Amino acid sequence: MKHVVETQQFDQESLETLFTLADRLQESPEPTALSGKTMASLFYEPSTRTRLSFESAMVKLGGAVIGTENAGEFSSAAKGETLEDTIRVINGYADVIVIRHPEVGSAAKAALASEVPVVNAGDGIGQHPTQALLDLYTVRKEFGEVSGKHVAFVGDLKNGRTVRSFVYMLSKYPGVKITFVAPSELGMASDIKDHLTEKGISFSETEDMESVLKDADVIYQTRIQKERFPSKDEYLKFKGRYVITREVADRMKEEAIIMHPLPRVDEIEPEVDASPHARYFEQARNGLYVRMALLYTLLH
Ligand code: CP
Repeated sequence: MKHVVETQQFDQESLETLFTLADRLQESPEPTALSGKTMASLFYEPSTRTRLSFESAMVKLGGAVIGTENAGEFSSAAKGETLEDTIRVINGYADVIVIRHPEVGSAAKAALASEVPVVNAGDGIGQHPTQALLDLYTVRKEFGEVSGKHVAFVGDLKNGRTVRSFVYMLSKYPGVKITFVAPSELGMASDIKDHLTEKGISFSETEDMESVLKDADVIYQTRIQKERFPSKDEYLKFKGRYVITREVADRMKEEAIIMHPLPRVDEIEPEVDASPHARYFEQARNGLYVRMALLYTLLH
C-alpha cells in the first residue's frame, strides 16, 4: 500500500491486519515508532476530527507534523500554484501527506505527483476512505463481526462522501444488508448501487426512517451538507427532515447502535448522547487508533 485514495483498495485481509494493529497500538502505545518521520497535513476544507486525529496519531507515534489548514487561502494555492507542484514541493519536506480538497479526484491527482504516500482525507463528494476505515473498525469492535449486519444510512446520501466510502467497505462482507433512507433528491448515487448489485449485496431505498428502526443493527445518521447545495433555500427544503430524538432512539432494537461521522447539526438531538445506542463519540475516538495504524503501516 503506497497511497490511500479510495476504499476499493482494501480487502478483508488487509483490513483485519490494520485493525489488529490498531487494537495493539491502543493497548501498547509505541511512542517512538515513527520518530524521525514527518507528516504534512494539507487541508483545503474545514476539519476537526480528521486533521486533529491524524496529527495526534503522528505525535503519539513519535513523529512530527507540519501543515496548513485552510490551504486554499494560506498555502501558495492562493497565488495560483497547481496541486501537483504543491505536492512535489512537500515531497522534499515530509514522509507522508494527508490531504483534504474540495475536488473529486484531487487525492488521486496528488498521489500521481507524489513520491511519498498520499492519504485522501476527503475529496469533495468523492470519498473519505479513512473515515470508512474507522467506521468499519467501530462496527467490528461493537459486534465482533461485520458480516450479516443491517446498516441503514440516513440523510444526505447524495453529497456524503463518508457514506460512499463506507458502503464500499461493507460490500466486502457477506450477508450485509443495506438500507438507504433519504429524500429522492438526496438519494444514493447509481455508481454505488451498481457496485452493490455487482457484489450481490442486498439493498433497498426508502424515504421513511421509521421503517428501519426495529430492524437495523446500525443507524448511520448523516448531516444535510449545507455547503454542497446551490442555495440556502434548496438546503432549507431538506434541513430537519430526519431527526433522531431520544424517543426515536428508544424504539431501536436493544443492541443496535447509532453512528454519525460528525459534525452533527440538528439531526441527532443532544439528549440522545446519553442513550445506550449512541456510539458517535466512540466512533470519532476510534479514528485515532485506526489512523495510528495506517500511518505506522505506510511509514514502515
Ligand atoms: N468526519 C469528519 O470527516 O469530520 P471532520 O470534517 O471534522 O474531519
